[in-house]
Amino acid sequence: MADNNFSVLPAHIGIIMDGNGRWAKSRGLPRKMGHIEGAKTFRRIGEYAGDLGIRHISFYAFSTENWARPEDEVNAIMKLFGDYLKEAEDRLQENIEKGIRLRFLGDKDALTPELRAAMEYLENATKDMDKVNLNLAINYGGQQEILHSVKNIARDVLSGKIKPDEITSDMIQQGLYTAEQPPVDLVIRPSGEQRLSNFLLWQSAYAEFWYSDVLWPDFTERDLDEALRAYEKRNRRFGGV
Ligand code: FPP
Repeated sequence: MADNNFSVLPAHIGIIMDGNGRWAKSRGLPRKMGHIEGAKTFRRIGEYAGDLGIRHISFYAFSTENWARPEDEVNAIMKLFGDYLKEAEDRLQENIEKGIRLRFLGDKDALTPELRAAMEYLENATKDMDKVNLNLAINYGGQQEILHSVKNIARDVLSGKIKPDEITSDMIQQGLYTAEQPPVDLVIRPSGEQRLSNFLLWQSAYAEFWYSDVLWPDFTERDLDEALRAYEKRNRRFGGV
């Protein structure tokens, strides 16, 4: 039987979906097959995390640096993203009944008008939901996100609305894609890599990290349980003693 009663759950988890390429390579398949399997894992784990009662879940699907990948791989990821948006639209009523709010973190301007329209439609259609907040980071960069917020504040300084000394960290937070969401408590990265890769930099300031060797397409509900079990045991001090 699944052992998934937790004494404490993170309010917000961030998941870096890594290892799709290696999963495909180890089977002699093209890299995009790894992304196809990875997209299935994303759906499965997103649903499971919501069922467990995790209120905020952020997945890293595509970074601002991922455009440097071969064109057919980028196109394959964008196609999977488009398929997901279509499916979310088809299942909108079901998502609303489950209280799922969808947000897309990242700069939408570089994406096609069709993708942008679907993203905006879904964000707007689910904006009053609050049971599960599902974020998908696409064309996302943590440094770019902070820069964008800081530029908005600079405009307010220039117009005289605020003085430089009046700038607060909450103002920076309010300019992020995750403005009103809690900070990330736990970052999960499979596939053996141990780095943050420009993911939710501001939000993860005090996050716990959990790494695993399993490749993302093979990541199961039991792996998430294991990460949450490890989190349960962590002694979080936020700079205190
Ligand atoms: C990292 O693995 C993964 C990505 C850059 C893409 C992640 C995309 C998906 C999981 C599918 C997209 C799903 C949606 C819904 C948009 P990697 O390719 O860097 O793996 P490797 O390190 O083994 O090469």
